[in-house]
Amino acid sequence: MRRVMQIIVTLAFAATPWAAIAADAPAKAGVKPVSKEVERGKYLVTIAGCHGCHTPDFLVNGGRSPEKEYLTGGVTGWRGSWGTTYPVNLRLYFQGVTEEQWVQVAKEVQRRPPMPYHSLNAMSQADVRAIYKYIRHLGPAGAPAPAFVPADREPPKPYVQFPV
Ligand code: HEC
Repeated sequence: MRRVMQIIVTLAFAATPWAAIAADAPAKAGVKPVSKEVERGKYLVTIAGCHGCHTPDFLVNGGRSPEKEYLTGGVTGWRGSWGTTYPVNLRLYFQGVTEEQWVQVAKEVQRRPPMPYHSLNAMSQADVRAIYKYIRHLGPAGAPAPAFVPADREPPKPYVQFPV
């Protein structure tokens, strides 16, 4: 009888909202709270298409890369008349620039193809700052992208050959 009571008490406790809250607590504790600006930065790099080049395999896996691999750069080269370029590892890049430097870079940067630097140049300062906050929030990860290969040298595979 005592055992039956014990089971009933256990079940009753399990059915209360407190039990649900308690069971949820460890999962929630692991999640860092993020600011609205960080959220906006995440949204911006997504809609601006930065992942297409700067997140490995993003274009071919239907955008299913885990966030821990976001913006860690590309090992596939982009080869054309300019030589062969590699999408920079932005997780490492952002460790080396202050937010103020980044605001300046985003406004003026001109890079070799196919980096769409015009998109960065056209962004509002608030958007540029939000991108900085998001990528710094992700923290450093991955390895540096391969170095630029001049036009007169054959790059290692894999690379995408442009017709120009
Ligand atoms: C179509 C491919 C592509 C897309 C899309 C792209 N990038 Fe790039 N990005 C590159 C490549 C390639 C380089 C290296 C260019 C070079 O070596 O001159 C680069 C370089 C950079 C750099 C380094 C600049 C520096 O001063 O060294 C930054 C920062 C950057 N990209 C940010 C972004 C952001 C933010 C987005 C989204 C708005 C983006 N990129 C979208 C290909 C891309």
